[in-house]
Amino acid sequence: MSAFPPLNDLKLLRTQAYIDGRWTDGGRPSLDVINPADNCIVGSVPNLDSVAAEQAIDAAARAFPAWSARTGKDRANLMRKWFDLMMANADDLAALMTAEQGKPLIESKGEVTYGASFIEWFAEEAKRVSGDVLASTWTNRRTVVIKQPVGVCAAITPWNFPISMITRKIAPAVAAGCTIVVKPAEQTPLSALALAELAHRAGIPAGVINVVTADADNAVAIGKTLCASTVVRHLSFTGSTPVGRILMEQCAPTVKRIGLELGGHAPFIVFEDADIDAAVKGALASKYRNAGQTCVCTNRFYAHDAIYDEFVRKLAEGAARIKVGNGFDQGVMQGPLIDDAAVEKVERHVSDAIEKGARLLAGGRIHPELGGRFYEPTVLADTRKGMTIMSEETFGPVSAVTRFSNDAEVIAAANDSEFGLASYFYSRDIGRVWRVAEQLQYGMVGINTGAISNEVAPFGGIKQSGMGREGSKYGMDEYLDIKYLCMGGIE
Ligand code: SIN
Repeated sequence: MSAFPPLNDLKLLRTQAYIDGRWTDGGRPSLDVINPADNCIVGSVPNLDSVAAEQAIDAAARAFPAWSARTGKDRANLMRKWFDLMMANADDLAALMTAEQGKPLIESKGEVTYGASFIEWFAEEAKRVSGDVLASTWTNRRTVVIKQPVGVCAAITPWNFPISMITRKIAPAVAAGCTIVVKPAEQTPLSALALAELAHRAGIPAGVINVVTADADNAVAIGKTLCASTVVRHLSFTGSTPVGRILMEQCAPTVKRIGLELGGHAPFIVFEDADIDAAVKGALASKYRNAGQTCVCTNRFYAHDAIYDEFVRKLAEGAARIKVGNGFDQGVMQGPLIDDAAVEKVERHVSDAIEKGARLLAGGRIHPELGGRFYEPTVLADTRKGMTIMSEETFGPVSAVTRFSNDAEVIAAANDSEFGLASYFYSRDIGRVWRVAEQLQYGMVGINTGAISNEVAPFGGIKQSGMGREGSKYGMDEYLDIKYLCMGGIE
């Protein structure tokens, strides 16, 4: 077993799936949860299949009539209790997250707060789902719009944010009156199960939230079951664009509503009028958070000729200061990558860039003392189009910096991507700020900041980065159907 701080509440280490308000192992062999820092087993959970997914869908369908009939305020009260329990158990949730995902404890704590904020936000929004009365074109009829929960929902969530990517989907769904089946990533089920335990304690009724655990192979069968079900009316997925395409196709026969938060390849532009120290700070925050394993991480930096040398030098100095290590160790700022395939991808991107002429200014290899999945924070200068890193999502701690000389050239380069999730730029010229913000083909634009995510803002992409928005006042719309009532006979 991996060493991680003993939990204050051992019951949060749940190792069974949660279906219909009950903990179950489904009679299936277990799936080991591995700490990527040391390869030790943190715990084991059931490796369930499509039979369990069907059971979870049935449970969610049975729970739906009563849950959706409650008032928004009633649902909000239970969600508020769930939020309070998350905050009260934040240290334990963070320890579980670091143990199964590897991110530094300080980042895990931040993610618990971030994840809980979606529950708090949508609990408040539950009370504000309102319809409309529209101007009628008839004197004897009224045109009324009501909003109703879509029904049973499904969520397939990733390992990079084991709590917040779940709460960002569950919270609007249950606030709207929907019930939900969640399939967490095979690498990080313990965080999901701890969340379910706290939802249970908060009094959220049986069947409203169900968590089905499985390995990558069974996840395919579970995904197919969720997509093919005529009972499931909405599927939300966060993950890669290739998998998003498959799920979209699988949802077509049942014409399901879908929310997709897919891959990104964020550009980060530093104009010549930028505050360079602020840009370097924002660049480090945007690039190296979660060891670069974030859909909104910068993948391509563009720095103007006039400030290029200063920017790359300061970025390399900043990267070299990042302390790498086991996420439980004091002062660690970057943990391991999630698995060997992630390390191989990073190595491939770095060697391809160097072979094609990039200059290595920091890092560039597996950490010499720590080995394993620990990769040094890396900075490559003089990258250019044609290098793999300029088009493929790296999902690792590597900065690639390209030189540019004018606005039109850099905006064209920034938009030259199939992805359209996040983008960033630094400038102090107000005219340029508006112009560039409007011209960037991305769902989110960070202006003079490298950190954009919070519960109040709409998170989501355009182009092949997906569809739909999570969080914010728009996030609940994904889980609500609009119904038009034509009320006649008003004489
Ligand atoms: C993601 O990487 O998909 C989520 C990142 C965030 O919410 O900031």
